[in-house]
Amino acid sequence: MTDSTSNQMWGGRFAAGPDAIMEAINASIGFDRRMAAQDIAGSRAHAAMLAATGVISDSDAEAIGKGLLTVLSEIEAGRFEFSTALEDIHMNVEARLKEIIGEAAGRLHTARSRNDQVATDFKLWVRDQLDAADAGLVALIRALLAQAEAGADWVMPGFTHLQTAQPVTWGHHMMAYVEMFGRDLSRIRDARARMNECPLGAAALAGTSFPIDRGMTAQALGFDRPAANSLDAVSDRDFALEFLSAASICAMHLSRFAEELVIWSSAQFRFVTLSDRFSTGSSIMPQKKNPDAAELIRAKVGRIFGANTALMMVMKGLPLAYSKDMQEDKEQVFDAADNLMLALAAMEGMVRDMSGNRDALAAAAGSGFSTATDLADWLVRVLGLPFREAHHVTGTLVALAEGKGCDLPDLDLAEMQEVHGGITEDVFDVLGVENSVNSRTSYGGTAPTQVRAQIVRWREQLA
Ligand code: ARG
Repeated sequence: MTDSTSNQMWGGRFAAGPDAIMEAINASIGFDRRMAAQDIAGSRAHAAMLAATGVISDSDAEAIGKGLLTVLSEIEAGRFEFSTALEDIHMNVEARLKEIIGEAAGRLHTARSRNDQVATDFKLWVRDQLDAADAGLVALIRALLAQAEAGADWVMPGFTHLQTAQPVTWGHHMMAYVEMFGRDLSRIRDARARMNECPLGAAALAGTSFPIDRGMTAQALGFDRPAANSLDAVSDRDFALEFLSAASICAMHLSRFAEELVIWSSAQFRFVTLSDRFSTGSSIMPQKKNPDAAELIRAKVGRIFGANTALMMVMKGLPLAYSKDMQEDKEQVFDAADNLMLALAAMEGMVRDMSGNRDALAAAAGSGFSTATDLADWLVRVLGLPFREAHHVTGTLVALAEGKGCDLPDLDLAEMQEVHGGITEDVFDVLGVENSVNSRTSYGGTAPTQVRAQIVRWREQLA
């Protein structure tokens, strides 16, 4: 005889209800309630299809459809009482539906299982996140394009090893991030196109003997087609892993840019001024303005990449098809998605509001012998020196300037001629940072003309 505490969904073969610890480890309602809207959309599509194929009556389907909308409005209004005993969102919704519409609710689960149901709900949820990340990235790229346009010809030092290397333009530096976030965007779009197949109708693992129309539910839920193998449909979570992996790479890019903003906003650099809206003060040091948003963005990659690793470990070694291990997929993805969206929005706001300090950038651009390569190139081009010899001559001139405590353009012509007799007055043309950046017109180079061409290309691409 079934005991009154056994589960109302499968109590038939159980004599007793679960131990409290069993209930605690088994329940996912504490977090999968976030998929309520997706669960109800999936159930509504399923019920409509069951009626269209004659598996259930039109009147039952209508009652189910309406009842599900009532459940949704209760959840949205915060009036729904979630029950841990009912384990997850699927059973919570169905149990409430039964309270509202009675016996017809029991027909909703015909020709499906929680296995295809959860795979569908989770795909719909992840798909929404891919769309949100898409929008967040586009907004960030637009903010970077505005910065690049404003400072297309501002000179600043370019670094390797965080040592002054060659002058570049502010616009060029901003556009480097446009390329990175642009690839993140394309990864997000690729993932969306690949994941957009509907698991619903795969049922527990083998499909169903009911005459269902999987194309109909796929279409109703905005999928491109039904997933072609029922075992695969209920047992893979690679769509979530692709999201986490694209999110990790994007978070890594955000982290690098955040690190630059932390450095650039320091008193020692003063390359940028971050707006008050994206800074905080110190409770003890009145002069402080801290780049907390940038620091937190820098850190977010930790939890996002952690989620990717965690889900990889959950999935590895699982035999086909569904295993309860897979219930551990959601919290990781929820947390990673929340934090990626927050980081994208914060970065966009910071970029939109920040101001590049043109004078400080220009002053730094000329220091550290940043035009030494231009000098070496001039010796090659004008005097016909082999590059290795030009490199040596330039090194000698750099040492000379360093000894005198001045920059390369401050050396006298006579002093330079002592190092190499062929040097003429014209050399000063290449020693200025403006000349240096203006000369780098190779495709993808730092010259303002190239930067502006790339801004135009990106604007067209995003339009
Ligand atoms: N809460 C479960 C999950 O998130 C739903 C699927 C349960 N399926 C099952 N056969 N027990 O994975």
